[in-house]
Formats: sequence, C-alpha cells, structure tokens
Amino acid sequence: MKNLVMLSALIVAVHSTNWTYAAGNNENGKMLFGECKSCHELADKENRIGPHLVGIFGRSAGSVQGFLYSEAMSSSAFSWNENTLDQYIAAPENFLQGTRMHFGGIPDPEDRKDLIAFLKTETLDE
Ligand code: HEC
Repeated sequence: MKNLVMLSALIVAVHSTNWTYAAGNNENGKMLFGECKSCHELADKENRIGPHLVGIFGRSAGSVQGFLYSEAMSSSAFSWNENTLDQYIAAPENFLQGTRMHFGGIPDPEDRKDLIAFLKTETLDE
C-alpha cells in the first residue's frame, strides 16, 4: 500500500513536469524534432530519407525537386501550414493514406504545438 502511494506521487510529479514543458516550450519542440532529424534536414536543402523542410510553411505538399515521394503525396493538392502539419504529425497514415513517412505520430496536441512552433523559428525561408 505504501508503495502504491509513492507510485501515485511519482506519477503526479512526472505529469506536472510534462505540463510545464508543454506550455509553448521551444526546448520541448527542439527535443521532439530529435525524432524527425534522422530523416529531415531543416536548415539545409538536402534530402535524406525524407525531403528537406526548408521553407515548409506555405510549401505545396510533395514539391521538393529530386525527392521521390509516395504516389499519395505527389498527387496531393494541399499546402503545409500549422493545421495540415498538425494533422500529419499526429498520425501520418490517417492524414494521408499511403504516405511513405514511416513515423508513428505524436499523439499529444501540446507536444505538436511546441514542435510546430520550433519548426517555425528554425526553418529557413526558401
Ligand atoms: C523514418 C523517417 C522519417 C521520420 C522519422 C519523419 N519523417 Fe517526415 N517524411 C519522411 C518521408 C519518407 C516523407 C515523404 C512521404 C511521402 O512521400 O509520402 C516525409 C514527409 C514529410 C513532410 C512532407 C514534406 C513535403 O515535401 O511535402 C513533412 C512536413 C514531414 N515529413 C515532417 C516530419 C516531421 C515534423 C517529423 C518528426 C515529427 C517527421 N517528418 C519524421 C520520413 C520521415
């Protein structure tokens, strides 16, 4: 029983740490981008496993020259903005069935907000 009480206290502590982090935190956004970094360049027009993300805000989906997109992405007709990014990052396959981006998604909306805020400050204009 004593263990159980300690465990609950620990859960509450961890939870409140996350909560302070989630309040528009650039550090959190940067940390989350760590999950994208192996596949995406943000400040360099160089494609990796995924296309570079330079100038991503306002860019048409599937439009980087020389990158081989999925059929789903290359035949799509939308642009990247806070809203489309938010939906794609939440669950890539749900947003765009057939996408080649093999990434599970970030379920927490506050985390996605932090990540998108980070992308906004870090991406270079095209
Ligand atoms: C395992 C590699 C991988 C990871 C991790 C990954 N991506 Fe991707 N990403 C891809 C690939 C591959 C595509 C191309 C998808 C397609 O053609 O359907 C893509 C496409 C994209 C696009 C569309 C770009 C365009 O030119 O239309 C965005 C935006 C994007 N990813 C953002 C992210 C973000 C933000 C993260 C981290 C939360 C992330 N990705 C994590 C591989 C990855």
